[in-house]
Amino acid sequence: MDKPNIVTCTAPVNIAVIKYWGKRDEELILPINSSLSVTLHQEQLKTTTTVATSRSFQEDRIWLNGKEEDITHPRLQSCLREIRRLARKRRGDGDPSVDSTGLSHKVHICSVNNFPTAAGLASSAAGFACLVYTLARVFGVEGELSGIARQGSGSACRSMYGGFVQWIMGKKDDGKDSLAQQVEPETHWPELRILVLVASAERKPVGSTSGMQTSVQTSSLLKHRAESVVPGRMVEMIEAVQRKDFAAFAELTMKDSNQFHATCLDTYPPIFYLNSVSQQVISLVHRYNRHYGETRVAYTFDAGPNAVIFTLQQHVPEFVQVVQHFFPPETNGGQFFKGLPVNHAALSEELKQAIGLEPMPKGISYIISTKAGPGPCVVEDPTLHLLGSTGLPK
Ligand code: DP6
Repeated sequence: MDKPNIVTCTAPVNIAVIKYWGKRDEELILPINSSLSVTLHQEQLKTTTTVATSRSFQEDRIWLNGKEEDITHPRLQSCLREIRRLARKRRGDGDPSVDSTGLSHKVHICSVNNFPTAAGLASSAAGFACLVYTLARVFGVEGELSGIARQGSGSACRSMYGGFVQWIMGKKDDGKDSLAQQVEPETHWPELRILVLVASAERKPVGSTSGMQTSVQTSSLLKHRAESVVPGRMVEMIEAVQRKDFAAFAELTMKDSNQFHATCLDTYPPIFYLNSVSQQVISLVHRYNRHYGETRVAYTFDAGPNAVIFTLQQHVPEFVQVVQHFFPPETNGGQFFKGLPVNHAALSEELKQAIGLEPMPKGISYIISTKAGPGPCVVEDPTLHLLGSTGLPK
C-alpha cells in the first residue's frame, strides 16, 4: 500500500453576538442578514481533524468522534466538491503537480472534539471549519476559504478566523460575496472573558437548520429584524468592539440574543430554546448589573439552553461565585470550573440579597472559562495525527 499523505489541523468554536437566523438560499447557505461572532480559544474548545489521501484508498470515508459516518451527507459533499474544484482551478488543469497533491485520490477524514458534543455547543461550526481548512492544506489550496466552510454550516464560515469576525451576508445569487472577514484579531481585547454555562439539558432542542426554515416561513418579526434591525446593529457592534466599549458591546449582545429568541417565539408553531435555567441566568445578569449600576456582564444564547457570558477579567472571580451560589452544583465528583483558572472571591450578603433569586440546585452542570482565540491552525507533530499509516483511525 502507498504511504498516505496526512495533514492534521484544529479549528475553533465561535459564539455569535449578532445572530445568524434564516437563509435566503438553502443549498448555498446564504443568510438573510449579516452576523458577528467571537472566536473562542482552542485551548478550551476545538475540533481536531486529520485528512489522509492515498492512491490505495478505495473510497472517501469519514469518522466523527470515533464512529464512522455517512460520507454522502450533502453538506460534506459540498465541501469536498468545492475544495477539489478550487484545487483544480488554482493548479490549472493538466498541471502534472496536481497529482502530487493527491487530487485524484480518495480521502479518509477523522475528526474529534475536545469537548462533549452533548454540551450542546456549536460543534458543527468548528467541525466544518476544520474539515475545509484541513482539506485545503492537503490539496495545497490557499486563500479565501470561508465561502466553502459556509456551505458546510453557515456559522462555520466565522470559525475560519480568530478574534472578532463578521459574516457579510452578500447580495449575489451565487453567494460569492457571502464571506467571513476578521474585524479585530484575538489580541485586540485581552481583558474580555467568556464563560460557557453548560445547562443540564433534558432533551435535544429543534435543530438550527429546520428551526430557521420554519422561522423564515412564518415569522414577520424575523423579516423585520433582518431588514430593519440587524444592519444598524452590525455597524454599532463593530464600533463597540473597535472601541473596546464593554457596556455598548454587552447591551447589544443581550438585546440581539433576546430578539433572536423572540423570533423563535414568533415562529409558528413556536420554538423554545431557553428553559427555566436560561431564564434564571438572564434575571441574575440583569440584577447583578443593576446592583452595580453598570453593565458588567452580558449573556447570549444560541439554539439551546446554555448561556454564554461575556465579562471583563476583573469581574470573573465574583461573578462565577454568584453563579455557583444561585446554581448550587452537584457535589459528587466532576469539576464545576473548567478551562482558564478562576481566582476565588468572597460573596457579600448584600450582593446575594440584592440579587435575591431562589437558588436552582444542579441547574448548571459546569462552567468553561475561556477567552477570544485564534483561527484554524496546522498541527505539526505527526504523533498527533488521528489516522495511522494505514489510513484508519489510530
Ligand atoms: C443560533 O450555522 O448551525 O447559532 O447554516 O443550517 O448549519 P446551518 O445553521 P447553523 O446556525 C447557527 C445559528 C445560531 C446563531 C449563530 O451562530 O449565528
